Amino acid sequence: MVEDIVVIGAGGFGRETLDVIEAINTASSGAIWRIVGVADDAPAEIQLERIAARGYEYLGNMETALQRFTCATFTVGIGAPRARVKLATTFEDAGWKPATLVHPDAVVGTNSVIGEGSIVCGGVQLSTETTLCRYVHLNPGAVIGHDALLGEFVSVNPGAVVSGEVEICDRTLVGAGAVILQGLFVGSDTVIGASACVTRDLEPNVTVVGVPARQHLEASGT
Ligand SMILES: CC(C)(COP(=O)(O)OP(=O)(O)OC[C@H]1O[C@@H](n2cnc3c(N)ncnc32)[C@H](O)[C@@H]1OP(=O)(O)O)[C@@H](O)C(=O)NCCC(=O)NCCS
Repeated sequence: MVEDIVVIGAGGFGRETLDVIEAINTASSGAIWRIVGVADDAPAEIQLERIAARGYEYLGNMETALQRFTCATFTVGIGAPRARVKLATTFEDAGWKPATLVHPDAVVGTNSVIGEGSIVCGGVQLSTETTLCRYVHLNPGAVIGHDALLGEFVSVNPGAVVSGEVEICDRTLVGAGAVILQGLFVGSDTVIGASACVTRDLEPNVTVVGVPARQHLEASGT
């Protein structure tokens, strides 16, 4: 049976999320999802043009989407962890159900668990016995090593490497191309800058950059 889905977020990751849904449909013998449209509170004109060019309807802001549909299935295609928390909470409180989306070209190892609301893009390598809690985003080409544990709303940007047995707490963002060495612990609400190499455990609420990664004092947050 085909299920209706609303995509939250008209930005870059929202459109990558559309790709994931389209690829799931193409890979299955019959369509699994019908994309109802895209909701966004403040889309730029170029984003609306790109959504329209792909043949999808802009549904309006979140409030409009919540009024137009009752208890639909949704996915939050927004990379920033804290923004994702807010939206997921709003839609869940209204009785909506989060979809869990895994691109058919992602490799998912044995006994790995993917929490509801998570989005796994094409080219991801999710090794064996890994756990993704709810609403984790794995961007294209991210590599997650064996036995890694990623908390709720963690985002791993393109090409980042999370080594085996790493634990990353809730709402942390791993920047593009960053590497976290094996067995390390990363606290919640932390930002690991693009291309950083994390060689030690990280406290919550810090931003780190560089090789080896050190605290970034000019950080403006996520
Ligand atoms: C680390 C990060 C959070 C810092 O953000 P910010 O505080 O807004 O940083 P700014 O852009 O204001 O830059 C401040 C300084 O930090 C430096 N800097 C920024 N990001 C850096 C990084 N990843 N590594 C090393 N230095 C970095 C800048 O060059 C600048 O240095 P300067 O003052 O000597 O010119 C951000 O740059 C980052 O890397 N985020 C991850 C983004 C990502 O993965 N993007 C891909 C999306 S698909």
